[in-house]
Amino acid sequence: MPHPAIARGHVAVITGGASGIGFAAAKRFLQAGMKVAIADIDADHLARAGELLANATAGGAGDVLSLQTDVSKPEQIEALQDAVIARFGGVDVLMNNAGIELTSTALGPRDNYQRIIGVNLWGIIHGSQIFAPGMIARGRPGLIINTGSKQGITTPPGNPAYNVSKAGVKAFTEALAHELRNTPDCAVTAHLLIPGFVFTALTARGRTEKPAAAWTPDESIEFMLARLAAGDFYILCPDNDVPRALDERRIAWAAGDIIENRPALSRWHKDYADAFKAFVEAK
Ligand SMILES: NC(=O)c1ccc[n+]([C@@H]2O[C@H](COP(=O)([O-])OP(=O)(O)OC[C@H]3O[C@@H](n4cnc5c(N)ncnc54)[C@H](O)[C@@H]3O)[C@@H](O)[C@H]2O)c1
Repeated sequence: MPHPAIARGHVAVITGGASGIGFAAAKRFLQAGMKVAIADIDADHLARAGELLANATAGGAGDVLSLQTDVSKPEQIEALQDAVIARFGGVDVLMNNAGIELTSTALGPRDNYQRIIGVNLWGIIHGSQIFAPGMIARGRPGLIINTGSKQGITTPPGNPAYNVSKAGVKAFTEALAHELRNTPDCAVTAHLLIPGFVFTALTARGRTEKPAAAWTPDESIEFMLARLAAGDFYILCPDNDVPRALDERRIAWAAGDIIENRPALSRWHKDYADAFKAFVEAK
């Protein structure tokens, strides 16, 4: 049985819905008989995605709303909500999924920090705060799915601004889930989608063919739907390279840095290479 919010005639809003994981979700929600609003900053991709989605659904263009939106700007998310309510009457599923990955270093320029955190973290805070009250007032089962990342949990070296944004998404979404479950008469729940390596525009880096290690966006969304049906908060996706058991060891090791008083990011510290390897291999 799918989650009850995912049902014929219900309404889904997906940010970053013109590409990758968001577009795959839009396709899948339409297949479930839902009406879908995709919001994206990229006008060309949005127009093409809207057309593809309308052609792929029995309801045609009447079931699809495409709205150019910059999720880092709250007034644009408010306009998105107004447009969705005017067209479809309300929202049952909100997927705050838009994300960017620009380069950064800890002491590098502030610009990319502001842009990445503006989209990846503020986009999710704006989306949740603006849509949740109406979803709760609707009085029926609802879902808020925020797209995080393993990089927000194990925070590997390489792109601290992205890690900071996604660690924020995790902390915010945990707090949101807690608040929602303690809100009287609230049937809306929050969930943290943690994709594995997924072949999309974000990760393609010039490649035109999916690397063997990566999942497709469609595989990721099928996994998400199964875990939502099971009631998971942490939707920890594997990929073709990293099974769940390996993720679990990596997450446990990262938490262990504090408990064991090891240096920061000891998984990538040469003095801890053997210990980490042994930890991963231990049953
Ligand atoms: N692909 C992966 O391996 C992977 C892994 C972990 C997490 N993620 C996360 O998944 C989410 C989706 O990424 P994807 O891989 O599908 O990438 P993608 O680039 O295919 O899709 C992201 C979409 O977000 C849109 N977007 C960017 N800035 C925006 C803004 N300010 N307002 C509205 N839309 C905006 C882009 O135009 C694009 O259509 C992101 O949050 C990303 O961080 C992806």
